[in-house]
Amino acid sequence: MTTTDLNMDSYWLPFTPNRHFKQQPRVFVAASGMHFTTDTGQQVLDGISSLWCVTAGHNRKPINEAIKAQLDTLDYATAFQAGNDKAFAAAKMVADLAPGDLNKVLFCSSGSEAADTALKLALAYHRARGEGHRNIFIGREKGYHGVGFGGMSVGGIPANRKVFGAALLPRVDHLRFTHDPVQHAYYNGVEPQSEEDLLAELEQRILPLHSPENVAAIIVEPIAGSAGWYVPPQGYLKRLRQICDQHGILLIFDEVITGFGRLGVSFAADYFDVVPDMLTFAKGVSNGVIPLGGVVCRDKLYAAMMNTNAPEHVIEFFHGYTYSGHPVACAAAIATLNVFKQEQLFARAGQMGKLLGDALHAAFKGMPGVVSVRTLGLAGAVEVAPLAGAPGKRAYDIFLDCFQKGLLVRPAGENIVLCPAFVVEPAQIEQMVATLAASIKSRV
Ligand SMILES: Cc1ncc(COP(=O)(O)O)c(C=O)c1O
Repeated sequence: MTTTDLNMDSYWLPFTPNRHFKQQPRVFVAASGMHFTTDTGQQVLDGISSLWCVTAGHNRKPINEAIKAQLDTLDYATAFQAGNDKAFAAAKMVADLAPGDLNKVLFCSSGSEAADTALKLALAYHRARGEGHRNIFIGREKGYHGVGFGGMSVGGIPANRKVFGAALLPRVDHLRFTHDPVQHAYYNGVEPQSEEDLLAELEQRILPLHSPENVAAIIVEPIAGSAGWYVPPQGYLKRLRQICDQHGILLIFDEVITGFGRLGVSFAADYFDVVPDMLTFAKGVSNGVIPLGGVVCRDKLYAAMMNTNAPEHVIEFFHGYTYSGHPVACAAAIATLNVFKQEQLFARAGQMGKLLGDALHAAFKGMPGVVSVRTLGLAGAVEVAPLAGAPGKRAYDIFLDCFQKGLLVRPAGENIVLCPAFVVEPAQIEQMVATLAASIKSRV
């Protein structure tokens, strides 16, 4: 079958310019390891682990086998008023991997649901402790926490605010973005330095404005991923933790992208040595094969919610999804986490990340039209100067050109992001960088 045989009328593709796509479709029909096969038989190198998901590589036998076995054993079971063995086992594995006393896991099916779950838990926790007045959330400019109204509200993506702004949560404020285009234009495997205290505004303006005792939680991505891989300056997250502690504010890390090994260790929380009160995850936890997301929270949140005078038949946290702890998704997660461990893939991500960072800097620093190269862990962004009057068009064109050349990259604003699976080979990193370099050269 090829695209010419496909009826493309019915499917409305997500986050995709549909009119343009349907003139020039890109259709995958198979995948293995680091590669896709398209309907025309083209091999495409997956330079973005299918949007940060397929971190153990495509079509992994142990994961597929676990899913098939689960289907034949317990295909699905209601999540409410009953549990299943795989959900308990997967939760324990996630809790064991998470830092500090992040020990209690709520499951859902996506990063968007995870963000909304964390925000709702923050409100419920404060209320359970008799601090229901804590109902303000603080996010950060350019933050991405998915497409639910909660996640969009605390997120700082201008396009979301432009179209959906009228329906966003009212009691939300935002930290400023951390990136300085001049000082932070190039960094490789380290956090950038900042002479300016980026959190002074939080302490001196935002918290006094709302009164700190009214603030429920601050949510950030440890590294702004969807915006284009922007690492905060040294010490930023530690100081954010201190400020939250000082005022009894919960700190939420959205680790949908950074969780499960991207930085060479289990979580960005480990990398930056900061334990949040809640950590959201999705994508890589199940190798992207079956949708799974979740929130892992500190013991104290669970304890406060259980410490209630309500009768025992009353639900303590009025929240959950039909597919929370889906046995097939949890079986996929168990198998994925075992693959990570057996193959020591987090450490490998760290090693390959160094190769990727060095290769990107060697190829692009100083190239005409390139204004920034930012790498940390197994991910990097190359930022190009925008085309006059057409924001994002140059990166989009580079993405299309790379695809034609057999490489999948991620355009994000003016950035082109590479974030391959942890099983990537050094030669494939060279191929990615060479393909991207040829494409950028032909377009700037
Ligand atoms: C940091 C972060 N949070 C949340 C999400 C939303 O996840 P999903 O698309 O699974 O809802 C994403 C998706 O890329 C993300 O990068």
